[in-house]
Order: sequence, then C-alpha cells, then structure tokens
Amino acid sequence: MTSLAINKSTVVGSNSIHPSPTFLHFSNVLLIVFFSFSISANADVVSERRAGFKTNAASMRAIASAIGGGDYQTVINQAKTISNWAQKIPGYFPEGSGVGDTKARAEIWTNFKDFTALAKANETAANRLVTTAKSGNPGAMMAGLKNLGGSCKACHRSYKD
Ligand code: HEC
Repeated sequence: MTSLAINKSTVVGSNSIHPSPTFLHFSNVLLIVFFSFSISANADVVSERRAGFKTNAASMRAIASAIGGGDYQTVINQAKTISNWAQKIPGYFPEGSGVGDTKARAEIWTNFKDFTALAKANETAANRLVTTAKSGNPGAMMAGLKNLGGSCKACHRSYKD
C-alpha cells in the first residue's frame, strides 16, 4: 500500500515537471492554426491588391474611350476610383507580403517611403485628371491621362517584376 502511494506521487510529480503529451499536442495545434492563418491572410492581401490593380487597368481603358466619346463624367468617376485606390496601395503591402503569387519586389520594403511617395504621386495625377475633366477640354484630358499612366509606370519600374 505504502509503496503504491509513493509510486503514484512519483508519477504525479513527473507529470507536473514535464508538460503532458496532451498539452504539447494542444500547443502544436495552436501553432499550426496560427501559421495557416498567417499564410491565408497573406494570400488574401495579395489577391486583393492584384484585384485593385486590375481595376486600375480597366479604369485607364475606360478613361481613354470616354475622352474619345465625350463622356467626361466617366472620366471623372474612373479617375476618382484610381485616386481612391492610390491612397490604399501602401496599406496593401504589409511587411512579409512579398511571397506567394505576387510580382511585388523586395525593394518595396527596403524603400517603403519612396514606394509610398510614388503611390501619392499616382493619387495626385488622378486628382489632376478629375479637375481637368471638369474643365471639359479633351486635349488636356489626354495629356492628363498620359501623365497618370506615367505615374503607374514610375512605380512599376522600380517595384514590380
Ligand atoms: C506605388 C506603386 C504602384 C502604383 C502607383 C501603381 N502600381 Fe500597378 N502594381 C504595383 C505592384 C507592386 C504590383 C504587383 C502586385 C502583386 O503582384 O502583388 C502591381 C501590379 C499591377 C498590375 C497587375 C495586376 C495583376 O496581378 O494582374 C496591373 C495591371 C497594374 N499594376 C496596373 C497599374 C495601373 C494602371 C496603375 C496606375 C493607374 C498602377 N498599376 C499604379 C505597384 C504600383
């Protein structure tokens, strides 16, 4: 009887020193859940920003044909869409989101201030086109569109594969 009691307390003692297999299993599950969450959060941010840029390309095409067609309200609306997205660009490039199905270059995160400034320049060019479109001069709008396209390329040149 006595020796059984001693054995029992020895077992209990060893359990309290070493983490139980159940606890280890539980913490492994937590780690796996945590890492799969980070991976899917990254995939989300990449696919959302790619969608934002695809909309940009569609807006540029819509603006070009709207200038030709004299539909200046569309020019204004699409330029505003580009301006709104430009404000959000830096927020869609969190640290560590340069992996996976992305053409984002690593330099974005070593030169984040410059990257942010290029997004700001894109926003300014889009806002200028809004103002120009309100004036109703198609030649000035074409020049504004070209200038806006230049601000897209300026960023791609340094930061997109
Ligand atoms: C501040 C930087 C920046 C500006 C400004 C910018 N882009 Fe981009 N663009 C990127 C980066 C970086 C990527 C790559 C994103 C990725 O793959 O994760 C990209 C991707 C794209 C893509 C590919 C989307 C896809 O995955 O299919 C298109 C199209 C695009 N941009 C068009 C534009 C247009 C049009 C403009 C201007 C109206 C513009 N971009 C302005 C940085 C920029």
